[in-house]
Amino acid sequence: MAETARNIGGVSLVGSGSATPKQRLTNDEIGLRVDTSDDWIRTRTGIASRHVVGLGESLTHLSANAGQAALDMAGWSLESVDLVLLATSTPDDLFGSAPKVQAKLGLSNAVAFDLTAACSGFLFALVTAGQFLRTRAMNRVLVIGADHLTRWVDWDDRRSCVLFGDGAGAVALEATSYEQDGLLDFCLKSDGSRGDCLTLSQVDSFNSLVNEKNFQTGGFLPVEMNGQEVYKFAVREVPAILQELLSVNKISADSLDWLLLHQANQRILDAVADRFSIPHRKVLSNLAEYGNTSAATIPLMLDEAVRKGLVKPGHLIASSGFGAGLSWGAALMRWQGPA
Ligand code: UT7
Repeated sequence: MAETARNIGGVSLVGSGSATPKQRLTNDEIGLRVDTSDDWIRTRTGIASRHVVGLGESLTHLSANAGQAALDMAGWSLESVDLVLLATSTPDDLFGSAPKVQAKLGLSNAVAFDLTAACSGFLFALVTAGQFLRTRAMNRVLVIGADHLTRWVDWDDRRSCVLFGDGAGAVALEATSYEQDGLLDFCLKSDGSRGDCLTLSQVDSFNSLVNEKNFQTGGFLPVEMNGQEVYKFAVREVPAILQELLSVNKISADSLDWLLLHQANQRILDAVADRFSIPHRKVLSNLAEYGNTSAATIPLMLDEAVRKGLVKPGHLIASSGFGAGLSWGAALMRWQGPA
């Protein structure tokens, strides 16, 4: 837990934004390619459709659009932003996509870099950004969670291709006083020893170079997933980490306004809610429309809920992200909204 860090300053969540690709792919359409059905996908996952990046779109473009919407909501001037932190596992450029997003948005004073932690990426980035703000090293940070996983999915593997979609979400974070802190606490975890159940790994082939020396070919294999293992991991670790966070902070599950989990499977959302006896109306879900957009799910869901007037200033939100790595984390947040 962040006992020392949180005594310095506070972090305010003052804006949100999101963007999704135009193409909407339904379960029935996936059924035209692999042996699956709308009924199986809805029953096992809660997903009805997902949005897929098409011609003229890209991860950079979605990230910039989500970021712009968050900047607009926050009412920030372009020159006031200190950092653009892009959580993604699927950059348009392996050297990083954040600087392209920074340039597209015209944030000329902001440093920009990518952070990779798969589906936990947004939460990890939020907490990382929080450290710059608490210490007053920075005043304004744009955190973006975005992924374009549909380009790394094996569209002939029905066990995984039905789950994923593309999207981006962003949150504008500002330094504030400790009394007004909106990032109350967090807990982050990794366990690489269990990482093989969800991978997007390098191509494992070597080519001859010169003098019997060789080099490894660049490129990645499609997403490989043991769905049952990932499912068991999620329903065990997410309640445990949330329980840890609530207990340390002496917060009862009743006092939460919203549960905002990584959107991977409706059954996981329901299982976690039931474990804490949280009524399902307090569990934010947009899985039916977007599926699992990896690092984008949490800020995309938050932005929708804010814009629909569900999440209001002062609301207390427990959030948890989980996924490849394995990585998982949780945070307690209070939404403030624009001044
Ligand atoms: O961000 C983290 C990313 N990943 C996750 O969160 C994934 C977590 N896991 C899951 O959500 C679930 O495990 C899945 C949705 C992936 C699978 O659901 P399940 O209830 O665990 O199904 P299963 O793997 O046990 O498969 C049950 C049956 C199998 O057939 P048999 O062996 O019983 O005849 C599968 O072959 O369902 C079959 N199946 C499908 N059938 C129709 C697997 N995928 C499909 C499909 N359509 N798309």
